[in-house]
Amino acid sequence: MKHLRPFAFALSLAVPALAQAQTTVPITVQAGDPKIIISKNIQGQFAEHLGRCIYGGFWAEPGLNVPKQGRIRMDIVEALRKIHVPNLRWPGGCFADTYHWHDGVGPTAQRPKMLNLWWGNTLEDNSFGTHEFLELCGLLGTEPYLAANVGSGTVQEMSNWMEYLNSNEDTPMVQERRKNGHAEPYKVSWWGIGNESWGCGGNMTASYYTDVYKRYATFAHDYPGTKLKRIVSGANGDDANWTEVCMKNIGPGMMWGLTLHQYTLPTGSWTGSKGSATVFGEQEYFNTMRNCLKMEAIVTKHAAIMDKYDKDKKVALLVDEWGVWTDVEPGTNPGFLYQQNTLRDALVAGTTLNIFNNHADRVRGANLAQAVNVLQALILTDKEKMLLTPTYHVFDLYQVHQDAQLLPLQFASPDYVLGGEKIPALNASASKDKNGVMHISLVNLDATHALKLETALPGVSWKTVTGRVLTSAKVNDYNTFDKPNNVKLAAFAGAKKRGDKLAV
Ligand code: AHR
Repeated sequence: MKHLRPFAFALSLAVPALAQAQTTVPITVQAGDPKIIISKNIQGQFAEHLGRCIYGGFWAEPGLNVPKQGRIRMDIVEALRKIHVPNLRWPGGCFADTYHWHDGVGPTAQRPKMLNLWWGNTLEDNSFGTHEFLELCGLLGTEPYLAANVGSGTVQEMSNWMEYLNSNEDTPMVQERRKNGHAEPYKVSWWGIGNESWGCGGNMTASYYTDVYKRYATFAHDYPGTKLKRIVSGANGDDANWTEVCMKNIGPGMMWGLTLHQYTLPTGSWTGSKGSATVFGEQEYFNTMRNCLKMEAIVTKHAAIMDKYDKDKKVALLVDEWGVWTDVEPGTNPGFLYQQNTLRDALVAGTTLNIFNNHADRVRGANLAQAVNVLQALILTDKEKMLLTPTYHVFDLYQVHQDAQLLPLQFASPDYVLGGEKIPALNASASKDKNGVMHISLVNLDATHALKLETALPGVSWKTVTGRVLTSAKVNDYNTFDKPNNVKLAAFAGAKKRGDKLAV
């Protein structure tokens, strides 16, 4: 039986004075009997007490002339509500393993201060704590994802935090929560047990961490009405051994998810310059894309190890830190990780989300680093000014895939060749939403050549096509506070029905 389906797609292109496309790339969309759901949580975000993400970002100075609820910046909230952020990870990052949650509850004036030793040695006044974060999540309509302090905290401290948030019995923890203004349990189910435990979270070996994890997880209780999602602090990039040891020693029964952190550095080097966020030529652009595409092999590798111990794919792989990491903007605090965001970042975002979508059988969560003013941010602020980055617009395009059915694609990408090296020019993912609308997201990484596509949809009859495109004259174009709409979404008129096929 053939279905008449409306059809829409989202398209991302880099078109700096592109030459005419020479050949047409055939793509086939396998629309029949889709079984895998693309979890909306792939589009999760991350907010750490780092630089101006919280303080000077989400949490405004009292005198700042912007719309606020308490001190929560509502212009940021409004922008994020539009892209339906499914979950928000907090309070770190490296900061999480120094954070003592109890310092951040109760009357603000009485909260102890601390030094944020990881990020710029700033004085943290704890004015943004647990209640403020959960109020922010409520305003955003997003699931809170807490990272518990394993590196410098105690099992008791984590366990108390869970009781404070999730229990409804008349214990001192619950009485304190009620006194602090929240009568009902918050029901927080997403819990990361540590962060980067191989590094800033304690410099542990994999086998030592697995014992520590089991101890913490044992005292992470399910209170009535809240089943915890216990999440293992996973590997750094392609460290297969970390995943292997976690899966073997902890086992799938004691974890809901296992994480992975993988950043894209333009120069590929953690020492010396990582590369500028805005000043780069085609070779550095090409290298950035080549580095970004490593995510495919890394996810495939970790997923294969997980398959050995968890054939039914019960455990989620969560890439809960990813994105472009460049040098900071000249003149800004190196500990604040503030960087601009170009069309290149948008192409990294589109490519990475395509990879996650196509691995939706295992990748069921991810968190871009970070939401506001830090690394590959969605939003940048300068006092009362605010702008949406090209990366924000990609999340706007891709929200159509949230909880949609994955449609496998078949195509052979043309090469993007530069300096004797090549990478695939085209990457894509597709899904069908609950209304039967099909969405294809296409990314052209080639900085100088357009692509012509002809898409077959066997077994599908369809009528209409619409599209949106994110592009700009140069891959290093970006939005400024003076020109916030330099790089923005536009309607795309280059898609046509040709017989049963879609020509782009
Ligand atoms: O996102 C910035 C930092 O990168 C995080 O704090 C840490 O987990 C990672 O190394």
